[in-house]
Amino acid sequence: MPTHSSAAANAPAVSTIFAQDVLSGLKQTAKTLPAKYFYDEHGDRLFQDIMHMPAYYLTGCELEIFQQQQAAILKAIGSPSFHLLELGAGDGYKTQVLLRHFLEAGAAFDYQPVDISENVLIELEQRLREELPGLKVNPLAGDYFKVLHEGRQSGQGSKVVLFLGANIGNYPPTEAGRFLRQLYHELNTGDKLLIGFDLKKDPATILKAYNDPEGITAAFNLNLLKRINRELHANFNLQEFRHWETYDPQSGEARSYLVSQKPQHVFIRSLNRSFFFDAWEAIQVELSKKYSLHEVEALAAATGFQVQEHFTDSRDFFVDSLWVKA
Ligand SMILES: C[S@@+](CC[C@H](N)C(=O)[O-])C[C@H]1O[C@@H](n2cnc3c(N)ncnc32)[C@H](O)[C@@H]1O
Repeated sequence: MPTHSSAAANAPAVSTIFAQDVLSGLKQTAKTLPAKYFYDEHGDRLFQDIMHMPAYYLTGCELEIFQQQQAAILKAIGSPSFHLLELGAGDGYKTQVLLRHFLEAGAAFDYQPVDISENVLIELEQRLREELPGLKVNPLAGDYFKVLHEGRQSGQGSKVVLFLGANIGNYPPTEAGRFLRQLYHELNTGDKLLIGFDLKKDPATILKAYNDPEGITAAFNLNLLKRINRELHANFNLQEFRHWETYDPQSGEARSYLVSQKPQHVFIRSLNRSFFFDAWEAIQVELSKKYSLHEVEALAAATGFQVQEHFTDSRDFFVDSLWVKA
């Protein structure tokens, strides 16, 4: 049995924290909602659909890196035994390529995926038990910020942390820096971090990845309002909000918004509060920051890490960068 339910046992009910986060985001003048709440059961499925859209190049790029450079990655890890901790593992579709190689190469390691979505962890664990029966897997449900802060991860010995799929891009640079400094503090000398960054490229390619004509990204973003309706008893009318994407090539920030198409009030019963949306007022729901290699290196230096090696795909669209706590 997975240990994720016990992991969540001492935490406040998710919907309580969810309600607080929704309140603090919607009462701001420039309204926001945290992207981590995209991932309920339906959101997990929609994200899997996004990952397989041709326009969403990120998946293919990171998969190519793992398929082509798995041996080089293991060599660079350089330790015969380690605890492999993955933050925001999702369905582990790409990670599985590395896990299989590590097992076949005889590395001694156990794998602990951490994710806020218990649903996706259950799926991941079932699949790994079937497809990689030799793997020791111990999932942990929760917010990775809290898991790290509370020291709830279970591994002994040297650690290798995976933070893949451009998860770091969901945080503004100051928050990303704070998170990475916290992670640095939790690690021991010699521990490593393999971290994925989506690199700056043709703005048209980036915009297309978040603006598919099939409307899968729009459905994924709107699902957040559906989740608020269901879990916090709200009355968002999804037809009256539309998905809007922007990309600023200077800051490298792609932003997803949900825009109210008319003036309207929305009541959230769990908060006993109504919120007014003016016509064309937007809620920012996701940031996906793109980096240059220079910015990646500056972030490592600013947070105490040393860059050991960059692994890029053949088009230089994406980098998995291996950092070490020296
Ligand atoms: C964009 S998906 C990427 C999944 C995976 N890393 C990949 O590359 O395919 C982000 C994943 O991180 C999880 N996540 C987002 N914020 C989180 C948080 N604060 N704590 C734990 N998991 C989080 C989500 O549930 C989701 O599964």
